[in-house]
Amino acid sequence: MFKELWEFRAGLVEKNLQLELAQTQILDENLARAMEYSLLSGGKKLRPVLLMAAADAVNGTGENFLTTASAVEMIHTYSLIHDDLPAMDNDDYRRGKLTNHKVFGEAMAILAGDALLTLAFEVVTRQKNTSYAAILSVIRELSTAAGAGGMVGGQAIDLESEGKTIDMATLRKMHMGKTGALFRAAIRSGAILASANRFQLAALTSYAENFGLAFQITDDILDVTGDEKNLGKPVGSDARNKKSTYVTLTSLEAAKKLAGDAVNDAVDALKIFGDEAEFLREMVKYLVERDK
Ligand code: IPE
Ligand code: IPE
Ligand code: MG
Ligand code: MG
Ligand code: MG
Repeated sequence: MFKELWEFRAGLVEKNLQLELAQTQILDENLARAMEYSLLSGGKKLRPVLLMAAADAVNGTGENFLTTASAVEMIHTYSLIHDDLPAMDNDDYRRGKLTNHKVFGEAMAILAGDALLTLAFEVVTRQKNTSYAAILSVIRELSTAAGAGGMVGGQAIDLESEGKTIDMATLRKMHMGKTGALFRAAIRSGAILASANRFQLAALTSYAENFGLAFQITDDILDVTGDEKNLGKPVGSDARNKKSTYVTLTSLEAAKKLAGDAVNDAVDALKIFGDEAEFLREMVKYLVERDK
């Protein structure tokens, strides 16, 4: 049941992204192709689907917020394009295809990322079915999460930690930033758009933080144990770049245990909700079992 809804909504997001791109004025043909290449290249659409699921948990209005959900996927896609660049993780494959810079060159890949990040904020301003106050809050959530205090900050720690052993507190801060912050903002945005009360918002925030942690620990595990074909991205990238991850700092077993603890905490956080949050419960349990 939950997988069908996930797939259905991922499809809605993909179609809406196509529409948004078609409506956007892009001055250069190569830039347009580079943006489209990564934005419409599949992917699990986790963040947009979680945004909608959070709104559903509040009052069943998930699909009203497809616009903002799509914007979050644009921010995510930008982060992947830049993450794969030679100056960062230097990876050749993403979602089973050559990485953006491998096809369009480094300069155009940087610009495609820049353009997707800024387009996301333009798109959020077009969100219907909510108040301007909620849109303003969402812009604050997303910009804070994407920036130096969130994703970009976490990516900076990640790069500066290459080849060093960092402590668990730093590792946690890095994870919360580079991956956790956007999940947190996506889920909080869904809740805010649906006019969540402060108890609902607090519960969903706690869920999101644990979700993000469990997700990145699992990403680190899959970088060691995963199958390249399934993942659509290289295995062993972390080891090649001498990254500190939950696996290198603890062990495979300990990392799995930590991911499991985070899943339990995420589910616990939802106890004020009934069946309307079942999708979120299923999602976090599934994600540590995933193979892609
Ligand atoms: C991968 O994210 C990058 C990380 C934040 C670890 P996803 O696993 O959600 O990537 P796609 O969108 O499904 O390709
Ligand atoms: C990437 O983390 C996080 C962001 C893109 C912000 P990783 O470097 O571990 O992601 P993958 O494994 O390349 O997808
Ligand atoms: Mg990286
Ligand atoms: Mg990477
Ligand atoms: Mg990784």
